[in-house]
Amino acid sequence: AHSLLIDCDTGIDDALALLYLALDPSVDIRAVTTVGGNIDPLRAADNSGRVLRLAGRGDVPVHVGAEHTLGAARHEYAPEIHGHNGLGDVELPELTPFGERPAAAEELVRLARRSPGRHHLLALGPLTNLANALRLEPRLPELLAGITVMGGAIRRQGNATPRAEANVHNDPEAARTVLHAGGNLTLVPLDVTMTETLDEAAHAELVGANSPVTDFAAAILAYYLDFYETRYGSRRAACHDPLAAAIAVGDLAEVGTEELALDVRTLPGPERGATVLDTRSEHSAGGHSPTVRVVTRTSGTFGTRLCERLRSAD
Ligand code: BDR
Ligand code: CA
Repeated sequence: AHSLLIDCDTGIDDALALLYLALDPSVDIRAVTTVGGNIDPLRAADNSGRVLRLAGRGDVPVHVGAEHTLGAARHEYAPEIHGHNGLGDVELPELTPFGERPAAAEELVRLARRSPGRHHLLALGPLTNLANALRLEPRLPELLAGITVMGGAIRRQGNATPRAEANVHNDPEAARTVLHAGGNLTLVPLDVTMTETLDEAAHAELVGANSPVTDFAAAILAYYLDFYETRYGSRRAACHDPLAAAIAVGDLAEVGTEELALDVRTLPGPERGATVLDTRSEHSAGGHSPTVRVVTRTSGTFGTRLCERLRSAD
């Protein structure tokens, strides 16, 4: 079984990623931690708990994390993409309050230390919690089986700005810290997540499937499709976080990866949050950009797989 720690900012596509994983009996979600991003971290935790319960995994502990970036700013929320509640204004039944729990970064460190080499960390939001965890425990990458990050735009336009992808843009210093920390890290950038989509046909399939999970997925997807239509002119919504989730648990045999020397631009200005290829490092030993495994090719059929998984719920 895959033992997963999931750090997220739930969020419509985060919710779909949680459902995708929670509906796989071979995946053991050990903890979910939340960070400010699509929405504030408290609401993201509440959303995560509600979504997990919908998928029959209400037992997974959820820990609230950073409300501020490393630079002490509030993360930039995205109600126009994810709705005012983070879930396309679709309301799942309320949870009973969590009570006191360790904060996200502390919990990530505690779990990693307790079982070295066991857990895989899947990061689906800004990288603030991971950077804070690295401050607490610089050996964190070695204590984890691997890290999969949804983030960055390498040879493609950004989405938060023309140059920067949202998770990186929301805390570039944190993203830079994580890329430089080493370990067995895989980056899943917009280059592939924008090409794996859910469309109107997928929406219709979900509507027809008629289960609590598919009804919810269809309702949040409808909100997401409206946003894509307004922003990009087509009703095809990117599967950012679900794609990274599937890659983290090794579901997609057909992915193509490249080892790339990458860095994150942190200076103020239009480049802030850009993930830039440092081609110098390919030719000179000792280049200062870290080499990162980047997913640069996927099959283009992941939407079908995601839909099937959602429809597998009773
Ligand atoms: C990423 O940003 C967030 O809005 C999404 O949930 C995803 O993690 C895409 O750039
Ligand atoms: Ca996310």
